[in-house]
Amino acid sequence: MRLININIGAANAAAAVDAFVIVLTVASLLPIISANDSSNREFSDPSAIKPVESTISSAANLHIKRRKIMDATYEQVKDVPNHPEIYLIDVRNPEELTATGSIPSSLNVPLPELEAALNSDSEEFEKKYGRAKPANDANIIFTCRSGRRAQEAAEIAKTVGFTNLSVYRGSWLEWAEKEGLPQ
Ligand SMILES: *[C@@H]1O[C@H](CO)[C@@H](O)[C@H](O)[C@H]1NC(C)=O
Repeated sequence: MRLININIGAANAAAAVDAFVIVLTVASLLPIISANDSSNREFSDPSAIKPVESTISSAANLHIKRRKIMDATYEQVKDVPNHPEIYLIDVRNPEELTATGSIPSSLNVPLPELEAALNSDSEEFEKKYGRAKPANDANIIFTCRSGRRAQEAAEIAKTVGFTNLSVYRGSWLEWAEKEGLPQ
């Protein structure tokens, strides 16, 4: 009973806040609306509106680009040795790699240390992983055992500012099957 009362109270409070925000919004728009009514050049001149529109749309495009995590196929992963600019990062633990082997040209950065690695300075990264730290727009493909940690890795990389990210969803399970290796 008490719980229900609290919930109703919270709902009422939320509704009151909503109503207040609406009143504030309308109030703050009134001067703009009336200014526009009385021949405001800024609003009647279309060239004044354009830059705002293009700013909004380029911000939206950037947002979409940033968010997108792509899928990498077995064929793309197999071709990585021919593309030295691509980073194939295996986020499994080192013991797993010892047990199964690893995909050619892959770099092992275990998931628990990925965020720190991507935030480290270039020198530190190179010393630890034997390869230059990827630039923020470098193409990075993540792989693991089943694809789950690879997806998590791509999300971590996205959060720390990397923009060109792919996940090899098949990961080691598919690779091993296609290559006739132990899973
Ligand atoms: C991502 O990387 C690939 C391979 O290096 C490159 O062809 C592509 O242009 C890059 N895309 C972006 C948006 O940087």
